[in-house]
Amino acid sequence: MNDARFILAGAGAFGRELINWAEDCGTPFTAFLDSSAEALAGFGYALDYLGTPDDFQPRAGDLLVMGVGEPEAKRRLALQLMARGAQFARLVHPSAVVARSARLGEGVVVCPQALVSADAVLGDFSVVNALSSVGHDVDLGAFSTLSCHVDLTGWVRVGEACFFGSGARVLPKVRIGAAARIGAGAIVMRSVPDGATMYAAPAKKL
Ligand SMILES: CC(C)(COP(=O)(O)OP(=O)(O)OC[C@H]1O[C@@H](n2cnc3c(N)ncnc32)[C@H](O)[C@@H]1OP(=O)(O)O)[C@@H](O)C(=O)NCCC(=O)NCCS
Repeated sequence: MNDARFILAGAGAFGRELINWAEDCGTPFTAFLDSSAEALAGFGYALDYLGTPDDFQPRAGDLLVMGVGEPEAKRRLALQLMARGAQFARLVHPSAVVARSARLGEGVVVCPQALVSADAVLGDFSVVNALSSVGHDVDLGAFSTLSCHVDLTGWVRVGEACFFGSGARVLPKVRIGAAARIGAGAIVMRSVPDGATMYAAPAKKL
Protein backbone atom coordinates (compact mmCIF):
# COMPACT_ATOMS: atom_id res chain seq x y z
CA MET A 1 0.00 0.00 0.00
CA ASN A 2 1.30 3.45 -0.88
CA ASP A 3 0.43 5.84 1.93
CA ALA A 4 3.00 8.52 1.00
CA ARG A 5 1.69 11.98 1.75
CA PHE A 6 2.07 15.11 -0.41
CA ILE A 7 1.94 17.97 2.04
CA LEU A 8 1.46 21.71 1.69
CA ALA A 9 3.47 23.60 4.32
CA GLY A 10 1.55 26.83 4.92
CA ALA A 11 -2.01 27.24 3.65
CA GLY A 12 -2.41 31.01 3.34
CA ALA A 13 -3.25 32.76 0.08
CA PHE A 14 -0.10 31.60 -1.72
CA GLY A 15 -0.57 28.09 -0.38
CA ARG A 16 -4.11 28.00 -1.74
CA GLU A 17 -2.77 28.94 -5.17
CA LEU A 18 -0.36 26.03 -4.89
CA ILE A 19 -3.24 23.65 -4.14
CA ASN A 20 -4.60 24.55 -7.57
CA TRP A 21 -1.23 24.33 -9.32
CA ALA A 22 -0.42 20.97 -7.76
CA GLU A 23 -3.68 19.59 -9.19
CA ASP A 24 -2.67 20.91 -12.61
CA CYS A 25 0.59 19.00 -12.18
CA GLY A 26 -1.36 15.79 -11.54
CA THR A 27 -0.01 15.58 -7.98
CA PRO A 28 -2.71 16.93 -5.68
CA PHE A 29 -1.82 17.64 -2.06
CA THR A 30 -3.21 15.15 0.40
CA ALA A 31 -2.67 17.21 3.55
CA PHE A 32 -1.47 20.54 4.92
CA LEU A 33 0.39 22.02 7.86
CA ASP A 34 -0.48 25.44 9.20
CA SER A 35 -0.41 27.30 12.48
CA SER A 36 -4.21 27.46 12.12
CA ALA A 37 -6.42 24.40 11.72
CA GLU A 38 -8.96 26.76 10.10
CA ALA A 39 -6.65 28.02 7.36
CA LEU A 40 -8.66 26.35 4.60
CA ALA A 41 -12.08 26.63 6.26
CA GLY A 42 -14.76 27.85 3.88
CA PHE A 43 -12.69 27.39 0.73
CA GLY A 44 -13.85 23.91 -0.24
CA TYR A 45 -10.46 22.21 -0.44
CA ALA A 46 -10.34 18.61 0.80
CA LEU A 47 -6.93 18.32 2.47
CA ASP A 48 -6.30 16.62 5.80
CA TYR A 49 -4.97 18.87 8.54
CA LEU A 50 -1.77 17.48 10.05
CA GLY A 51 -1.32 20.11 12.73
CA THR A 52 1.07 22.98 13.18
CA PRO A 53 4.66 22.88 11.92
CA ASP A 54 5.72 22.49 15.57
CA ASP A 55 3.72 19.24 15.79
CA PHE A 56 4.84 17.76 12.50
CA GLN A 57 6.65 14.42 12.45
CA PRO A 58 7.60 13.40 8.92
CA ARG A 59 7.06 9.82 7.81
CA ALA A 60 9.16 7.95 5.26
CA GLY A 61 8.02 8.91 1.77
CA ASP A 62 6.42 12.22 2.78
CA LEU A 63 7.08 15.07 0.38
CA LEU A 64 6.36 18.70 1.24
CA VAL A 65 5.99 21.87 -0.81
CA MET A 66 6.61 25.26 0.75
CA GLY A 67 3.40 27.29 0.68
CA VAL A 68 4.82 30.43 2.27
CA GLY A 69 5.92 33.32 0.06
CA GLU A 70 7.37 35.85 2.50
CA PRO A 71 11.12 35.14 2.44
CA GLU A 72 12.04 35.25 6.13
CA ALA A 73 8.98 33.29 7.25
CA LYS A 74 9.73 30.80 4.50
CA ARG A 75 13.34 30.40 5.59
CA ARG A 76 12.38 29.84 9.22
CA LEU A 77 9.75 27.26 8.34
CA ALA A 78 11.97 25.40 5.86
CA LEU A 79 14.85 25.18 8.32
CA GLN A 80 12.53 24.09 11.14
CA LEU A 81 10.97 21.33 9.05
CA MET A 82 14.23 20.15 7.49
CA ALA A 83 15.79 19.89 10.95
CA ARG A 84 13.14 17.19 11.60
CA GLY A 85 14.02 15.37 8.38
CA ALA A 86 11.30 16.78 6.09
CA GLN A 87 11.96 16.32 2.38
CA PHE A 88 10.80 19.06 0.02
CA ALA A 89 9.69 18.63 -3.58
CA ARG A 90 9.84 21.17 -6.40
CA LEU A 91 6.55 22.29 -7.92
CA VAL A 92 6.79 23.47 -11.54
CA HIS A 93 3.52 24.25 -13.27
CA PRO A 94 3.12 22.53 -16.64
CA SER A 95 2.51 25.86 -18.40
CA ALA A 96 5.84 27.31 -17.21
CA VAL A 97 8.77 27.32 -19.62
CA VAL A 98 12.00 26.24 -17.98
CA ALA A 99 15.15 26.04 -20.06
CA ARG A 100 16.86 22.65 -20.06
CA SER A 101 20.05 24.34 -18.94
CA ALA A 102 18.45 26.08 -15.95
CA ARG A 103 19.22 24.63 -12.50
CA LEU A 104 16.53 24.45 -9.84
CA GLY A 105 17.31 23.95 -6.15
CA GLU A 106 15.39 22.03 -3.55
CA GLY A 107 11.85 23.18 -2.78
CA VAL A 108 11.63 25.61 -5.71
CA VAL A 109 8.17 26.69 -6.93
CA VAL A 110 7.56 27.90 -10.50
CA CYS A 111 3.99 29.07 -11.16
CA PRO A 112 1.85 29.22 -14.31
CA GLN A 113 3.30 30.81 -17.43
CA ALA A 114 6.57 31.79 -15.81
CA LEU A 115 9.77 31.72 -17.85
CA VAL A 116 13.12 30.52 -16.52
CA SER A 117 15.66 31.08 -19.25
CA ALA A 118 18.97 29.57 -20.23
CA ASP A 119 21.52 28.83 -17.52
CA ALA A 120 19.52 30.56 -14.80
CA VAL A 121 19.96 29.21 -11.28
CA LEU A 122 17.02 29.17 -8.86
CA GLY A 123 18.26 28.81 -5.28
CA ASP A 124 16.61 26.50 -2.76
CA PHE A 125 13.04 27.51 -1.87
CA SER A 126 12.94 30.37 -4.33
CA VAL A 127 9.57 31.17 -5.92
CA VAL A 128 8.89 32.42 -9.44
CA ASN A 129 5.27 33.45 -9.39
CA ALA A 130 2.90 33.49 -12.36
CA LEU A 131 3.90 35.35 -15.52
CA SER A 132 7.31 36.30 -14.16
CA SER A 133 10.47 36.00 -16.17
CA VAL A 134 13.90 34.96 -14.96
CA GLY A 135 16.37 35.87 -17.71
CA HIS A 136 19.39 33.98 -18.95
CA ASP A 137 22.24 33.57 -16.47
CA VAL A 138 20.24 35.00 -13.58
CA ASP A 139 21.22 33.76 -10.13
CA LEU A 140 18.18 33.93 -7.83
CA GLY A 141 19.19 33.50 -4.19
CA ALA A 142 17.73 30.88 -1.88
CA PHE A 143 14.41 31.81 -0.20
CA SER A 144 13.82 34.74 -2.56
CA THR A 145 10.32 35.33 -3.92
CA LEU A 146 9.20 36.94 -7.15
CA SER A 147 5.55 38.05 -7.15
CA CYS A 148 3.61 37.98 -10.44
CA HIS A 149 4.84 39.81 -13.57
CA VAL A 150 8.38 40.38 -12.28
CA ASP A 151 11.11 40.66 -14.91
CA LEU A 152 14.69 39.81 -13.96
CA THR A 153 16.72 40.45 -17.10
CA GLY A 154 19.96 38.74 -18.08
CA TRP A 155 22.79 38.21 -15.57
CA VAL A 156 20.90 39.73 -12.66
CA ARG A 157 22.19 38.37 -9.33
CA VAL A 158 19.83 38.25 -6.37
CA GLY A 159 20.94 37.53 -2.79
CA GLU A 160 19.14 35.30 -0.34
CA ALA A 161 15.65 36.02 0.98
CA CYS A 162 14.76 38.96 -1.30
CA PHE A 163 11.19 39.96 -2.09
CA PHE A 164 10.03 41.44 -5.41
CA GLY A 165 6.59 43.07 -5.60
CA SER A 166 4.27 42.72 -8.53
CA GLY A 167 5.62 44.00 -11.84
CA ALA A 168 9.12 44.91 -10.62
CA ARG A 169 11.86 44.95 -13.28
CA VAL A 170 15.60 44.70 -12.89
CA LEU A 171 18.03 45.76 -15.61
CA PRO A 172 20.81 43.48 -16.85
CA LYS A 173 23.74 42.60 -14.55
CA VAL A 174 22.31 44.47 -11.57
CA ARG A 175 23.01 42.89 -8.15
CA ILE A 176 20.34 42.81 -5.48
CA GLY A 177 21.68 42.43 -1.92
CA ALA A 178 20.39 39.82 0.51
CA ALA A 179 17.02 40.48 2.18
CA ALA A 180 16.26 43.44 -0.11
CA ARG A 181 12.63 44.35 -0.84
CA ILE A 182 11.77 45.65 -4.29
CA GLY A 183 8.42 47.45 -4.49
CA ALA A 184 5.63 46.78 -6.94
CA GLY A 185 6.32 48.44 -10.28
CA ALA A 186 9.90 49.43 -9.44
CA ILE A 187 12.50 49.58 -12.20
CA VAL A 188 15.88 48.82 -10.67
CA MET A 189 18.71 50.37 -12.67
CA ARG A 190 21.62 50.05 -10.23
CA SER A 191 22.80 47.53 -7.68
CA VAL A 192 20.99 47.45 -4.34
CA PRO A 193 22.61 46.97 -0.90
CA ASP A 194 21.64 44.22 1.54
CA GLY A 195 18.37 44.84 3.33
CA ALA A 196 17.36 47.90 1.28
CA THR A 197 13.77 48.63 0.27
CA MET A 198 13.54 50.12 -3.23
CA TYR A 199 10.52 51.56 -4.98
CA ALA A 200 9.38 53.56 -8.03
CA ALA A 201 10.97 54.02 -11.45
CA PRO A 202 13.87 54.54 -11.54
CA ALA A 203 14.06 52.77 -8.19
CA LYS A 204 15.11 54.76 -5.13
CA LYS A 205 15.64 53.78 -1.53
CA LEU A 206 12.69 54.00 0.85
C1 LIG B 1 7.90 48.83 -1.45
C2 LIG B 1 7.15 48.12 -0.33
C3 LIG B 1 7.78 46.75 -0.04
C4 LIG B 1 7.26 49.03 0.89
O1 LIG B 1 6.44 48.59 1.91
P1 LIG B 1 6.43 49.42 3.31
O2 LIG B 1 7.83 49.44 3.88
O3 LIG B 1 5.35 48.81 4.16
O4 LIG B 1 6.12 50.89 2.87
P2 LIG B 1 4.74 51.72 2.95
O5 LIG B 1 3.62 50.93 2.38
O6 LIG B 1 4.61 52.24 4.35
O7 LIG B 1 5.00 52.93 1.96
C5 LIG B 1 5.93 53.97 2.27
C6 LIG B 1 5.81 55.05 1.22
O8 LIG B 1 6.26 54.57 -0.05
C7 LIG B 1 5.19 54.63 -1.03
N1 LIG B 1 5.25 53.37 -1.78
C8 LIG B 1 5.24 52.13 -1.24
N2 LIG B 1 5.33 51.20 -2.20
C9 LIG B 1 5.39 51.86 -3.37
C10 LIG B 1 5.50 51.42 -4.70
N3 LIG B 1 5.56 50.10 -5.00
N4 LIG B 1 5.58 52.33 -5.67
C11 LIG B 1 5.52 53.66 -5.37
N5 LIG B 1 5.42 54.15 -4.10
C12 LIG B 1 5.35 53.25 -3.12
C13 LIG B 1 3.91 54.74 -0.21
O9 LIG B 1 2.90 55.39 -0.95
C14 LIG B 1 4.38 55.54 0.97
O10 LIG B 1 4.48 56.88 0.58
P3 LIG B 1 4.12 58.08 1.64
O11 LIG B 1 5.10 57.93 2.76
O12 LIG B 1 4.32 59.32 0.82
O13 LIG B 1 2.72 57.83 2.05
C15 LIG B 1 5.64 47.86 -0.68
O14 LIG B 1 4.91 49.04 -0.70
C16 LIG B 1 5.43 47.13 -1.99
O15 LIG B 1 5.49 47.68 -3.10
N6 LIG B 1 5.16 45.82 -1.86
C17 LIG B 1 4.86 44.94 -2.93
C18 LIG B 1 3.47 44.33 -2.76
C19 LIG B 1 3.19 43.31 -3.82
O16 LIG B 1 3.38 43.51 -5.00
N7 LIG B 1 2.75 42.15 -3.39
C20 LIG B 1 2.47 41.08 -4.32
C21 LIG B 1 2.08 39.85 -3.60
S1 LIG B 1 0.36 39.82 -3.27
